[in-house]
Amino acid sequence: MQYAIQTHQLTKKYNNYTAVDSLDISVERGEVFGLLGPNGAGKTTTVSMLCTILKPTSGTATINGFDLVRQSHSVRKSIGIVFQDPSIDDRLTARENLYMHANLYGVPAAEQKERIERILKLVELEDRAESLLRTYSGGMRRRLELGRGLIHYPQILFLDEPTVGLDPQTRDHIWKYIRELKETHDITVVLTTHYMDEADRLSDRIAIMDHGKIVVLNTPQKLKETLEGDVITVRANDIQLLSDLVVKWLGLTKTRIVDGALEITVPNAKAAMPRIMELATQNNIYVESLISRGPNLEDVFLHYTGRSIREDSTRELYGFAAVQRRAIK
Ligand SMILES: Nc1ncnc2c1ncn2[C@@H]1O[C@H](COP(=O)(O)OP(=O)(O)O)[C@@H](O)[C@H]1O
Ligand SMILES: [Mg+2]
Repeated sequence: MQYAIQTHQLTKKYNNYTAVDSLDISVERGEVFGLLGPNGAGKTTTVSMLCTILKPTSGTATINGFDLVRQSHSVRKSIGIVFQDPSIDDRLTARENLYMHANLYGVPAAEQKERIERILKLVELEDRAESLLRTYSGGMRRRLELGRGLIHYPQILFLDEPTVGLDPQTRDHIWKYIRELKETHDITVVLTTHYMDEADRLSDRIAIMDHGKIVVLNTPQKLKETLEGDVITVRANDIQLLSDLVVKWLGLTKTRIVDGALEITVPNAKAAMPRIMELATQNNIYVESLISRGPNLEDVFLHYTGRSIREDSTRELYGFAAVQRRAIK
């Protein structure tokens, strides 16, 4: 079987700094492939190389059967790109913007009208198609960008942090469109995100990335199953004391304090919770809440890297993609 994307030792260095380090990945046709990692992990650099926006320092890749470097023109025609783009022209209407992109990508004139209708429908912007983009909200813009990336019916769609800065409701919408694309249009999607819930909800497989390398790659389900544990979150008046006691008396060593709460990873939450409660009571610690959940991708990241994905801020999220886009124009 031919892969949609196959990379071999793909590497990008900025001077002496290795942003993407010897990447070997194979993306199957029709899958949603998630690149999950904190800021600075190398996600945007990776997709920028795969989109031919950035030239690899070394290594090779095949996209839709075309060589990334030698056949970059064919690669470009077969892919769609949705990066955050501050250069969107405010003086155009949504429909005009889509026509412009249809022309840019060589969509046959006879097909443009129908395609644009379909896309406006998909991203639910039919009613606002004649409005100037300057009147659009952030969420509407992102929906238009998503539609725009589809105008030439690409075989692969690249989405770089598709829901950053959007409210929860709009995120839900975007997620729905991405799932729809995969199911109804048989398209391969590569998306980057630092939101674990987004990667979890959308991806068929996830590559967790850190410091330019793939740390682990699997389906979201398998990634979580390998942890073999539940996570108990305790809020109490003396978290540090409770943490020490839990380690000392219950032998539960996988503890950490996150946002003022004690998180404990245990093989079985049902068995451990009454014992934690009892221990707290015996030591006059007042427990405000005690809840358990199955492992999530945040736990997976922590397990493989020893760090929390949330430790980073949202700084520079827009920065580099925008700079790179401008550089190729
Ligand atoms: N044009 C550039 N010049 C120098 N360093 C860069 C450039 N673009 C990105 N980097 C660095 O490369 C690393 C990876 O960046 P990036 O691919 O944007 O990560 P992510 O998208 O995962 O947040 C970061 O440490 C970033 O500072
Ligand atoms: Mg990025």
